[in-house]
Amino acid sequence: MDLSTSYMGIELRNPLVASASPLSYTLDGIHRLAEAGVGAIVMFSLFEEQLREEAARNAELIDDVEESFPEALNYVPEIVKQDPGPRRYLTLLERAAATVDIPVIASLNGVTADGWTDYARAMQEAGAAAIELNIYYLPGSSSESGREVEQRHVDVLQRVKAAVTVPVAVKLSPYFSSTAEIALRLDEAGADALVLFNRFLQPDVDPEELAVLPNVKLSNPADGRLPRTWIALLRGRVRAALAATTGVEGPVDVAAYLLAGADVVMSASALLRHGPGHAGVLLDGLSSWMERKGFSSVGELRGLLAVPSSEDEAAYERAGYVSAMREANIRTQGPW
Ligand SMILES: Cc1cc2nc3c(=O)[nH]c(=O)nc-3n(C[C@H](O)[C@H](O)[C@H](O)COP(=O)(O)O)c2cc1C
Repeated sequence: MDLSTSYMGIELRNPLVASASPLSYTLDGIHRLAEAGVGAIVMFSLFEEQLREEAARNAELIDDVEESFPEALNYVPEIVKQDPGPRRYLTLLERAAATVDIPVIASLNGVTADGWTDYARAMQEAGAAAIELNIYYLPGSSSESGREVEQRHVDVLQRVKAAVTVPVAVKLSPYFSSTAEIALRLDEAGADALVLFNRFLQPDVDPEELAVLPNVKLSNPADGRLPRTWIALLRGRVRAALAATTGVEGPVDVAAYLLAGADVVMSASALLRHGPGHAGVLLDGLSSWMERKGFSSVGELRGLLAVPSSEDEAAYERAGYVSAMREANIRTQGPW
């Protein structure tokens, strides 16, 4: 079965991508994902705030050492003194990129203009095949307008695009008032891929303990319906590649995303829940499903159930995915 595909111009052995998660915290974890067969790996995000905190802590440490034993400073590597924060991430990225035979995509969550560009450039130098911008931004201020929030995304993308030559993907939140419009704006601003959608940590309240819980919840297949709908609607309307993330549990979820029009399908929760070896289950299951339905390559099935780009946009604005497909008179009676 031919599962090969391309994502942002990068050739992949298959469309299953391990998305950013703690599975890539170590070199061993990254190797396990690659051995399990995924087509590419997105590393966990480098968070600029964390770096700043770490940098501040390290700077204090350096100051303390300097005050007590000035000569001991020689034992602090020069590179750590310059910028102690991202070294660990970049070293891991460098080692990963050099030792696995699949593309390693770095993920960056920046806050300041300089942070986004400096770290993106450093990631490229460390061997990242591409950079995913995890714009994890929940506007807490009631004075910030929706347009300003959107513009922040476009500005970040444009700055990073100007700083690197590798492809740049934008991982989006599902909470825009006009998802298609921001997708088109990012596409025009040069996004090489749109990753739909990020999941936000939603703290919960425990009434028994009277406490707020950080609560990272793994997804379930029903959570895939929102991103899948948007992928079906955006397919053919943006030049950027479309990456699906959320709710992949079994091979049918991968197949559904590809039919809707995803270029690649990402998984974090299922790989965390069942272990990296689950990638093999997803890929074998995808191949069996393709064989059963009479497909011999991913290209044959991708986007078969996307809303045709010729379809009047107003029709799906009013009626949604299902009605748009009905109006486009798409019948699910291909070779399968
Ligand atoms: C424990 C955990 C950690 C995550 N860390 C990151 C991260 O560092 N950067 C990021 O962009 N997404 C992160 N994600 C989000 C995942 O990459 C993914 O987009 C999301 O969980 C939806 O996919 P899933 O349903 O397959 O889990 C994390 C998810 C989980 C569950």
